[in-house]
Amino acid sequence: MNIVLGVGGGIAAYKSALLLRLFTEAGHAVTVIPTDASTKFVGVATWEALSGRPVTNNVFDSVDQVNHVRIGHEADLIVVAPATADLLAKAAGGHANDLLTTTLLMARGPVLFAPAMHTEMWQHASTVANVALLRSRGVHVLDPAVGRLTGPDTGPGRLPEPEAIFAAAMALVDGSCAVTHDAGSPAPAATPASAVPAASGPLAGKRVLITAGGTREPLDPVRYLGNKSSGKQGVALAEAALAAGAAVTLIHAPMEVPAPAGATIQRIETALELRAATLAAAATADVVIMAAAVADFRPSTISTGKIKKRDDTADPVIALVRNPDILVEVVAHRAARNQVQLIVGFAAETGDDRADARSYAREKLVRKGCDLLVVNEVGPGESGSERVFGQDNNQVEILALDGAGPVQAAGSKREVADAVVLLLAQRLAAR
Ligand code: CTP
Repeated sequence: MNIVLGVGGGIAAYKSALLLRLFTEAGHAVTVIPTDASTKFVGVATWEALSGRPVTNNVFDSVDQVNHVRIGHEADLIVVAPATADLLAKAAGGHANDLLTTTLLMARGPVLFAPAMHTEMWQHASTVANVALLRSRGVHVLDPAVGRLTGPDTGPGRLPEPEAIFAAAMALVDGSCAVTHDAGSPAPAATPASAVPAASGPLAGKRVLITAGGTREPLDPVRYLGNKSSGKQGVALAEAALAAGAAVTLIHAPMEVPAPAGATIQRIETALELRAATLAAAATADVVIMAAAVADFRPSTISTGKIKKRDDTADPVIALVRNPDILVEVVAHRAARNQVQLIVGFAAETGDDRADARSYAREKLVRKGCDLLVVNEVGPGESGSERVFGQDNNQVEILALDGAGPVQAAGSKREVADAVVLLLAQRLAAR
């Protein structure tokens, strides 16, 4: 996806460097357009190095390429962060006196503003009117977060965290939700509408993030390294959590089954894309369930052309590099934020002559540090056919890090999902 990241002249401009990283790590091409004032805070060199693209705010650079027309037309999404009071006023008034404002006028895709300014400026009648006008035209303006501002002052006006802006931006292009705001009082952070929890059920009021499917690691434009995951257990979990009243975000790699209606859906392909999307969404989740089958390794290089079979050359050797362990990172982020969150891992295990599947699973639970590990033994069953992958039924044992007795569940993947959801609801209620 082509994203334009507009950067306004506020101290929070430095946070947009992290936002840019989230976009690029999720595989998007980002053109950064900083306003002249913003370059007093973060220089053009930083944006060029992080985006890997030339950066300017001058409409008179590369005039032959008619940049404002080209960039505006090619943009699938424009995100302005931080959006200053001045930029909001210019956008509302239709000004076009630099590359960012002209690009905003050319844009036909979704536009998201993430404001940051002092509380008095945010609450000034001019800004309130400008924001209302932009929103009435379908432009998405996040409410700023509440908290410490540049000086000793605190209040509404902080730039929402990069992860929250990223999640709101992805939700916009996903088409699965609109960004909402409370017209009266500014919300503490960006919140996609469909992530607002439902009213009743054992998980009512809870935000549940589920990953599902099997990642694909590209080798060349037509080939990838993949795995056998069908996504059925992850989708069943999403359906069970929805039925229990939770607001569900499903981040999924390719699956054999459709994603359920009613969840906020984000589709990814690779482990690195899954990582960026998951870490961003986990920032606001009460429960994270990592049901995705993540490739542990990816090809160290992706061939830009199709790898050819030539009779006169030796068989190709594919060099692999290790992918990050997303579950371990989710656990680490929770600790760093001091966040109250339940984290569930999945493990498909086989035993061998050294130890049985359950022993390997216990060791994995401790290594990953998640609260619960849903374990199933994979491989051929008694009849010789595959026990889990692609099947409609499942048989699991749920191990707990705190040593609570293992819970067994068996039946359809939905019945297993209901058992996991029940356990989660009990644990959340006991907190
Ligand atoms: N997982 C992850 N990131 C990875 C690999 C796995 O987040 N790079 C998560 C999976 O989503 C799952 C759990 O970790 O919830 C266990 O996955 P598994 O593949 O069994 O773990 P590995 O660490 O890859 O262990 P193994 O060496 O047995 O493959």
